[in-house]
This record gives sequence, C-alpha cells and structure tokens, in this order.
Amino acid sequence: MSSAPAQIAVTGLAVMGRNLARNLARNGFRVAVHNRSKSRTDALIEEFGHEGEFTPADDLPALVASLEQPRKIIIMVKAGEPTDAVIDELVPLLDEGDIVVDAGNAHFADTRRRENALREKGLHFVGSGVSGGEEGALNGPSIMPGGSPESYAALGPILTKISAHVNGEPCCVHVGPDGAGHFVKMLHNGIEYADMQLIAEAYDLLRQVLGLSPAELADVFRDWNSGDLESFLIEITAEVLSQVDPTTGGPFVDVVLDQAEQKGTGRWTVQVALDLGIPVSGMAEAVFGRSLSGDVVRRSAAAGVLPGPAEAKADVDRDAFIEDVRHALYASKLVAYAQGFDAIRAASEQYDWDIDLGAMATIWRGGCIIRARFLDRIKEAYDRNPALPSLLVDDYFKEAVANGQEAWRRVVATAASVGVPAPGFSAALSYYDGLRAERLPAALIQGLRDLFGAHTYRRVDRDGAFHLDWSGDRTESPA
Ligand code: 6PG
Repeated sequence: MSSAPAQIAVTGLAVMGRNLARNLARNGFRVAVHNRSKSRTDALIEEFGHEGEFTPADDLPALVASLEQPRKIIIMVKAGEPTDAVIDELVPLLDEGDIVVDAGNAHFADTRRRENALREKGLHFVGSGVSGGEEGALNGPSIMPGGSPESYAALGPILTKISAHVNGEPCCVHVGPDGAGHFVKMLHNGIEYADMQLIAEAYDLLRQVLGLSPAELADVFRDWNSGDLESFLIEITAEVLSQVDPTTGGPFVDVVLDQAEQKGTGRWTVQVALDLGIPVSGMAEAVFGRSLSGDVVRRSAAAGVLPGPAEAKADVDRDAFIEDVRHALYASKLVAYAQGFDAIRAASEQYDWDIDLGAMATIWRGGCIIRARFLDRIKEAYDRNPALPSLLVDDYFKEAVANGQEAWRRVVATAASVGVPAPGFSAALSYYDGLRAERLPAALIQGLRDLFGAHTYRRVDRDGAFHLDWSGDRTESPA
C-alpha cells in the first residue's frame, strides 16, 4: 500500500479491471482501486497487493480523494447503463481537467455522447479500446485510446508503458478524438469475428472433404502458423483442436455445442458499416454464421430433411487440398482486413477523426486477439501510400491474392459441390471479383429502378441524370 497520492485509478475489478490494475502496479504506477462490492477490492489487495503500490478505496469519493491531479480514472465495468451509472456518480466529484477513461467495449456512439457531455463540464472523457482478454490486460494489451489530444498527453506515457510491445514499439497510439478509439476497437472485433469464421470454415472443409481428425487438423494449423498465416488465432486453433475432452476421452471440439454466441461488437460493426455504406461482407457472414448456428428451430427442421449433394466427398489430393485451403484462408482474410480498413477510413472521414491507418495495423501487431504477422504488411502498405484506396491494390496484397486465387476458386467450388457451407470464403471471393470487375450488373439495377419508380440513371457517355419514358414512347429526358 502507498501513502503518496495514486497516479491512476481503476474502478470495476472483475477480471479485466483487476488485471489492468495489476499491470499498472507491476509497471511501477501507484494505483487506486475500487469496486462496487468491496470483497473484490479486498481480494485484489490480499492476493496481489505485493505486486506494487495499491491504494484500496471503499467508495468513489475515497477513490477520487486518493488521486493526484489531474485525476485519471479508468472505468472497467459492463458497457451500457453500468458505465453511465459510474460516470454519473463520478462527475460531481471531479475537477476541471480530470480524465475519465472507459476501457470497456462501449459503442462508439455512446462514447461520443459521453465525451461531449463531459467536455461541457471541463472534463476529459476517453473511450479506449483494450484488447487481449484477461491475459493481455495483465501482461500487455493492445490499447486504442480516443479522446482529446490533451488527455492523451497525460495518459500516453502510462498506457504505452503497460501495453504490449512489438520490436520495442508499443501497441498503443492515440487513435483520434471522441469515439475514434472505441470505433477502432469495434472494428478489431469485427475482424476477429471474420477471422474466426474463416478459420472455422477451413477446419470444416478439411475435416469433411478429407476426413481429417481434429488431432490431424491441429497439426495442419500448427504448420500454417509458421508461415504467412502466423497469428494468435491460428495458434489457439491448433490448441483447441488438439484438446481431448476429459470426460469422454474424445476430441474436445466434438463435445462442444455447435452454437456460437456473441456479445454484440461484431453485430455493431456490421450495423455501422451498413450506415457508412461500406461492404464488410466477411464480418456480416461471420455474424450471420453465428446467428444461423444458434437458430435451433430452423436447423432442426432442416437437418436431415433438406437434400444436399449425393456425394459429400470430393476427389482431391490431400496435400494439394490442404494447400488450397491455406490460400483460400489467407486471401479471404486479406479481404476481411481490406474491408475493415475501408470502414475505418470511411468513419474517420465522416467524423473528422484523421485516423492514421498504418498506425492501427501497428497497434494490432501485439497484445490483441487478431495479432498476426501480416499486420506488418498492412503497415508497410500504408507507409508506401497513405492514401491507398484499398489494401487489395497494394503490390504485396495484390500479389498475395493473385498467387492464391486459383486455389481460392477451387476451394469455393469444392465447398459448393460437396455442400459444405463456406459463406466467408465465397463472400470474400465475390467481393474480390466485384471489386476488380470492369463493369458490374448495377447498370441493369439502375434500368429497373428507372422503369418501376422513375428513379433515374446516369449514362456512361454524358453527365447528369436521365429518365426514360418507359410507359410512353421511351424517349429519354434529363431528370
Ligand atoms: C478482445 C476481445 C474481447 C472479447 C470479445 C468477444 O479484443 O480482447 O475482442 O473484446 O473477447 O468481445 O466477443 P463476442 O462474445 O461477441 O464473441
């Protein structure tokens, strides 16, 4: 325990808050800690008090009183109403210039609202993404802080110190003002959803088409983890697939109910992307895939009833098919990231955030759930061209997809012919083909819209909007 004023506080000591507080203390910061029910505060001090200088507080006034100014208080409670409740209780206790940080998975629109409300009271509100789960919070997460530059001037030295580091660089930068940090964290989660969906499709295809066992598949993923696909999620896929169920002695993955749950950040990403007009088909398929998995009523009505292809096995060479699926996974993953970065760019323009896209790749290189070797390639792509219209047109990505595209197409075709669902792989390929098309069938859609609703169309050879007199003599007139 410490007698000097604490440098930072954490309120909300469930596992993420507790680990974040421990991380701060282990890095030499004097940390004030508080939890609504005191038992958690006591448990933290009892079990981990020796790790650094903690100041336990029984209530928020005591927490506030224990801090040096400007006060820095991290809220780590459930997103939504619990966060508002803590803010409402804290605000009257604070002085101008104090900084309130919400490190939960808040919706960025809530963060914008809260930032605005606290700014009017002379306080800084920082919505900060924190990724890496319990382990990351303790040993170095990826941190995505929003809020004012002034607040980051005070918080930056603390947050960068406790964040993960890759090649000596912290996985923490100031993302941008108000809700920018939480927006980027939301996108991180959207990409996490897409990544996991693609991994699951790769697993399913290899298992169903080649008949590989989970243990054999674990070896495949272990092998992939030494190449371009190297990432935390591929690494833990091998771990989950090699796990044996202690009760049955069979593969763990076979005793787990096949209904994926979701807390909402993936869904938010897709909802927000719809509003921004940015296709994030990889993430959308991942969210829909989870919804379908949980739709027990319709699944049980259809399973074993709706017919599929007569032959579920494809005539493929084992090693060649594994390599094809690896290419399909990598190419589809690149599409998911390209779409994710498009959404960040669009939001940055819409909200005037001025987000440095290359820096976002840097902060995701370590600590977070989507940490991966190829994030370096994204950073390099934006270094080469900060105004890159799509990651897919960068030379590295263009070549990576070009190298794998035949394999990718074979995998999608095989999935369709054997009746194994691969919505992530196929949506990614369709996006890629749509993006590179010289001409899309949207022209026909425009014709239809003009015919049934006089919605007008634009021409390839002249400026302006036009309408055809469909029910009359079919002459064209400017709209
Ligand atoms: C992280 C994770 C974390 C959490 C997800 C899970 O970055 O540390 O993304 O935020 O594990 O929110 O989300 P679902 O429950 O929706 O899968």
